[in-house]
Amino acid sequence: MSTGTTERDEARPTESVTVTINGEEVSREVEPRLKLSDFLRDEAGLRGVRVGCEHGVCGACTVLMEGDAVKSCLTYAVQADGFEIETVEGLATDGELHPLQEAFHEEHALQCGFCTSGFVMSSVELLRETPDPSRDEVKTALSDNICRCTGYHNIYRAVERAAAELDVRAGPEGE
Ligand code: FES
Ligand code: FES
Repeated sequence: MSTGTTERDEARPTESVTVTINGEEVSREVEPRLKLSDFLRDEAGLRGVRVGCEHGVCGACTVLMEGDAVKSCLTYAVQADGFEIETVEGLATDGELHPLQEAFHEEHALQCGFCTSGFVMSSVELLRETPDPSRDEVKTALSDNICRCTGYHNIYRAVERAAAELDVRAGPEGE
């Protein structure tokens, strides 16, 4: 009577979900209503995935699913079953920041940092598809992300700086 668990709780259905996150497979039994953002934060411990509005407006929760930027607060974990997810935690390699992370630091493109992982993940998608974006293309790509602190110019500059850095790294003709 006083266990706190009701028959209705026990009857709640769960589904098995297996997701590859930053190269590592994670499997859990979850309720179908569990959002991907909560799966990533609470089940996989990836707190770089931020939850702001939970309504698909702010973009703080943006991750890549099969390479496409998605708002993880609008995606159910079960929808990600069998897919590959990338979060901000997977960007640094061998202790070196990704050029976008470095550029956000260099260009002072953040203040409180709450929005930053979402901006960075949207920018990763942009630079993979458009390695040398115009300012308008940067603005359009980031138009689903909201920052309450910085104004956007430093963020745009950071993305352009990272694009230039990645271009230099890409080949000898860039040097
Ligand atoms: S928390 Fe997902 S868009 Fe705001
Ligand atoms: S740096 Fe604070 S919300 Fe963007």
